[in-house]
Amino acid sequence: MSILIKSGTIVNSSSSYVGDIEIDKGKIIAIGLELPTKKGMTVIDATNKYVIPGIIDVHTHVDHFGGKQKTEDNFFEGTKSAAFGGTTTIIDFAIQAGNEDTESAIARRKSEAKNLACIDYSLHAHLKETSSGSDPKLKIQSIIEEGIPTFKIFTTYRDAGFMIDDYNCLEYMKILSENNGLLMVHAENDAICESITNKLIETDTASVINYPKSRPIIAEVEAISKIILFAKKTDVSVYFVHVTTEEGLKLIENAQKSGMKIFAETCTHYLVLNEEVYKRDDGYKFIMAPPLRKENDIDYLWEGIRNRSISVVSSDHCAYSSDKKVKGEHNFTEVSPGLQGIEMLLPLVYSEGVCKNRITINDLVRILCENPAEIFGLKNTKGKISLGYDADLVIINPSLEWEMTDTNHNMMTDFNPYSGYKVKGRPEYVLSNGKMIVDNFEFKGEKGQGRFIKRYLH
Ligand code: URP
Ligand code: ZN
Ligand code: ZN
Repeated sequence: MSILIKSGTIVNSSSSYVGDIEIDKGKIIAIGLELPTKKGMTVIDATNKYVIPGIIDVHTHVDHFGGKQKTEDNFFEGTKSAAFGGTTTIIDFAIQAGNEDTESAIARRKSEAKNLACIDYSLHAHLKETSSGSDPKLKIQSIIEEGIPTFKIFTTYRDAGFMIDDYNCLEYMKILSENNGLLMVHAENDAICESITNKLIETDTASVINYPKSRPIIAEVEAISKIILFAKKTDVSVYFVHVTTEEGLKLIENAQKSGMKIFAETCTHYLVLNEEVYKRDDGYKFIMAPPLRKENDIDYLWEGIRNRSISVVSSDHCAYSSDKKVKGEHNFTEVSPGLQGIEMLLPLVYSEGVCKNRITINDLVRILCENPAEIFGLKNTKGKISLGYDADLVIINPSLEWEMTDTNHNMMTDFNPYSGYKVKGRPEYVLSNGKMIVDNFEFKGEKGQGRFIKRYLH
């Protein structure tokens, strides 16, 4: 299918200009001024609209079991909702269930996504001490050869069985360093969180209003600091997922300045919401880990995007409906943490970031498209509007004003955490590999059209 996008403002991380884009056989084949319309072409008029690369959301939990509950979406529903938000690639996780080994978890997750995903997808592997009996070095090497070079560890969630201990963490860091893998870290000190939580339960005060106390700033800061120390000793590249605090980000910035290969990610909710929500009657909806923080942290995270210490913003999408979340109202340990947001990533970063002059539209493309592609092994095919790249494109109508409600989204949950937010800008057309999957705000994608993408670093 051949498509011509005419007269849009084409945005990459370091340029914005008005032009046309020609697409054929899933790729961008021409970029220029006044490109000719050929027979049989579909023409989209993008005058006064932004044309940006498709969003790459590197941190999602579609069809996820969090230890207590399972999320609402499968890979079709999750990726369809992503498409409405302008996301054309997700990288989800193959988290080991119980005693399952790393490789089996990858095989299971691939089969869960196959024939369902309607956008391209990949997976991060998961490492913990009870991972398979196979030789850890050979295991890592074969997973990397199969196109999965990124490995996630949790320094917390002992209760859910996801955590790794310090010894195994160090051992895996050495192997990843030797094999050019990237370690992704959920950084919170488990003992601190678990002990405070147990005290709150004993005193019958584990209601949602006290949730932020149970996962304090020191828990994030200690874990970041320890991992940086381990990374210094092992020379491994580290990507901290969902950084939430000024103090934690300052540690990362110091490590970056010393020349270490350390990346930071934050998520939409940590940029937009603060801990005041836990005082609301529906505060239980916002139980996620780490918890939401204060305004000074939010300001520092935006500053981190501007000064580039934060490389990526993701959704950390994890969609539970309110009937599940409400079980945590009086005892937050009754629920698996997580917040939905796969569809809101681009609209919120655009509206809260670009429209409020916190960042530029070029910064947006850097943190949602180019850096994710570069860091996670998708460069040369995705993350940029450039000749020969995959025609994963989003046309945003920048002037459209709308209000987020509990129902005007596709996330399979009965609420939207941002309900009542008045925002500007909405993806009007979304192309995945040259196929229109959102056409004038209407879904036109197909179940199973997304491909599993093998990724290689360098
Ligand atoms: O609360 C969260 N973030 N749930 C999803 C799993 C994780 O820790 O990323
Ligand atoms: Zn996490
Ligand atoms: Zn997550």
